[in-house]
Amino acid sequence: MHSLCRANRTANPEQTVVPTGRRFRGWALLTLAPSFLFIAGSVHPVFGDQARVTSLFRPLAQPAQEIKELSLLVLAICGAIFVVVAGLLVYAIVRFRHRAGDEASEPPQVYGSNQIELAWTILPLLIVFVLILVTSRTIADIQNRKAPPSAVHATVIGHQWWWEIRYPELGIVTANELHVPASDAGGSRPTFLKLQSADVAHSFWVPLLAGKTDLIPNRENLMWIEPTKPGVYPGNCAEYCGTQHARMLIRVVVQPPDEFQRWVRDQQQSAAIETSAAEGRKTFFANSCVNCHTISGTPAQGKFGPDLTHLMSRTMLAAGAAPNKPDSLRQWIRDPQTIKVGCLMPNMQLTDAEVDQVVAYLQTLK
Ligand code: CUA
Repeated sequence: MHSLCRANRTANPEQTVVPTGRRFRGWALLTLAPSFLFIAGSVHPVFGDQARVTSLFRPLAQPAQEIKELSLLVLAICGAIFVVVAGLLVYAIVRFRHRAGDEASEPPQVYGSNQIELAWTILPLLIVFVLILVTSRTIADIQNRKAPPSAVHATVIGHQWWWEIRYPELGIVTANELHVPASDAGGSRPTFLKLQSADVAHSFWVPLLAGKTDLIPNRENLMWIEPTKPGVYPGNCAEYCGTQHARMLIRVVVQPPDEFQRWVRDQQQSAAIETSAAEGRKTFFANSCVNCHTISGTPAQGKFGPDLTHLMSRTMLAAGAAPNKPDSLRQWIRDPQTIKVGCLMPNMQLTDAEVDQVVAYLQTLK
């Protein structure tokens, strides 16, 4: 066998001449690439526009913080394993690389060592066991959390391509902006969410607050968030759900408790009826707008599109596709497809005058 190998090697010298330098550089790059990727991921939020970047690396609420701590621990353990394995690999490649004059010699052949084999079986078992324990503890912590009496309950329903938000206990229906109270030293006020879908699978993801949870048709998923810092937290649908998946943005508005209560009281009011926009109101109710939209306290009780009762209290239109400004609203009503191609709101073929009237009416819905 040995003589055969040697015979083959000498018969075909090109195969045994390995371009050592090039192979070493290849291995080094391959082993270092994951480190570069990780460094790039961490640095990004530091240099990015802090106001706009929603980074996994600086969560501002539970359970996102707990998940981040767990992932850093897992990353540290895996990083240590990577460094040891890659270090040994690089050492072996460099120390035992092919050298001139080596052709005829065979390296020492070592078979079976009980100690080494026991070590590399038991050590990984222990590491995996630790990983399983810490991961299941975090999962259990998050999934078994019970709603305290102070909790807010909301139902989030995914639609192509917007979010319906209901607070059954408060009698509020809104869209695309989830308002929640902040927890502080004065009390824990988590928000418990029921996630449903009206059509296809969506995924609720607000990176600074929590991990992703899917919204699945004919199924109800649960999650909770407990932010402590008031502010606006952007999120997006994280499960491809059709043409406008990318413009299915959600904003979580975290408010101090008294401000949240004020918002609740405002939202509980029926729609304002102002005489100033009577023509627009007539146009709105004479068209099929009413088949899809609800305006509480009026005959408009459609459920297919977003509730418009307090449309003007929201910052964005069309699930974040345009700012809630009169100009965008005008363009949206004139032809929604120019803002959000494929969206399910039809062009109602209104005249310019009618569009202006409807915009004037919608602006009274504060
Ligand atoms: Cu909804 Cu993607």
